[in-house]
Amino acid sequence: MNRSIACALVVSALVVGTTTASGYLNEQKPMLAATPPMGWSSWNALGCAVDEKAVRGNADAMVASGMAAVGYTYVDIDDCWMAPQRDADGRLQADPMRFPSGIKAIADYVHGKGLKLGIYSSAGVATCENLPGSLDHEKTDAKTFASWGVDLLKYDDCYGEGRPAVERFTTMGRALEASGRDILYSVCAWSEVQPWRWAAATGAHYWRTFSDITDSWDAVVAIADQQAGLGPYSRPNGWNDPDMLEVGNGGMTSDEYRAHISLWALLNAPLMAGNDLRRMDATPHDLLTNREMIAVDQDWGGTQGREVAEEGDLQVWAKPMSSGAAAVVLLNRGTDAGQAYTTAADLGLPRASAWVPPHAAKMLIVAPH
Ligand code: GLA
Repeated sequence: MNRSIACALVVSALVVGTTTASGYLNEQKPMLAATPPMGWSSWNALGCAVDEKAVRGNADAMVASGMAAVGYTYVDIDDCWMAPQRDADGRLQADPMRFPSGIKAIADYVHGKGLKLGIYSSAGVATCENLPGSLDHEKTDAKTFASWGVDLLKYDDCYGEGRPAVERFTTMGRALEASGRDILYSVCAWSEVQPWRWAAATGAHYWRTFSDITDSWDAVVAIADQQAGLGPYSRPNGWNDPDMLEVGNGGMTSDEYRAHISLWALLNAPLMAGNDLRRMDATPHDLLTNREMIAVDQDWGGTQGREVAEEGDLQVWAKPMSSGAAAVVLLNRGTDAGQAYTTAADLGLPRASAWVPPHAAKMLIVAPH
């Protein structure tokens, strides 16, 4: 990451209210996401092939790779952990083939490494992979998750039976708050229902702003475009989530992955690694553990980043840092190298420039004297 120093940057902080339209105070939910949550999720790399060996192995790798030391904490089991039927008492149970030890044993294992465990369900009669969902079982399921020692619930929006999303996600949010355990609440409802407008009031600590990412440059730039105008909805303990990372999954070049994670950091996105950490080579490792990138992601300067200027395929994205500096991403969306620069008009700064390779980005921290 390059650093450049310039002078006289004026950073304006956006004031965001904490009371939502429904009157629910943001402060009412436990402060579990003062900064954007960081961790790993099974979905992008493993899908339904997730099993307890993979979860333990990824927890091990999170520590051994140094990721835990730079802030990655949550080990999140996405869809397909549950058995096709509830137990005799109506509780969700782990798939006996892939999770024979049960979720509590995995939570204990993960906690023993100083990490936290995440799990997944859907605000519907089934998950997106057609396993049992939590609709009308919210209290039971929240209590079950708490009894297992779960620290994060990603709650999806498949098979909602046409019932209003706000109600379905609020019921689970209240059930989590009454569960007796602090459980980070991740709302996974897609852009069609505009979760950024209502998810904070359900008790969510972050919410998806796009449908599913894929391991491709087209997905990264499409998601980046989708964030326009969403800045005012994001804030400490209630973040916009442009989806889990694809860094290290093999579908993009190193430059493209660097652009992907740089943009996510600029957006104060939750940083959920989506690659198999057991098989990570140096490039994704270095991107995921880049301390300057993480510092940008974790810093709240009053608003998430946004695009501030563009010329053809070259874009300037910027976000204020709490220090008074600005984090800047110079993004080249095109297939030829180009010289991207910030201008006085963009940032209140003298011109600064850098060569940017195709499908790539440069992240800069621009500080006042
Ligand atoms: C949806 C979500 C994904 C993932 C899958 C699991 O598509 O958006 O992030 O959780 O379900 O089935």
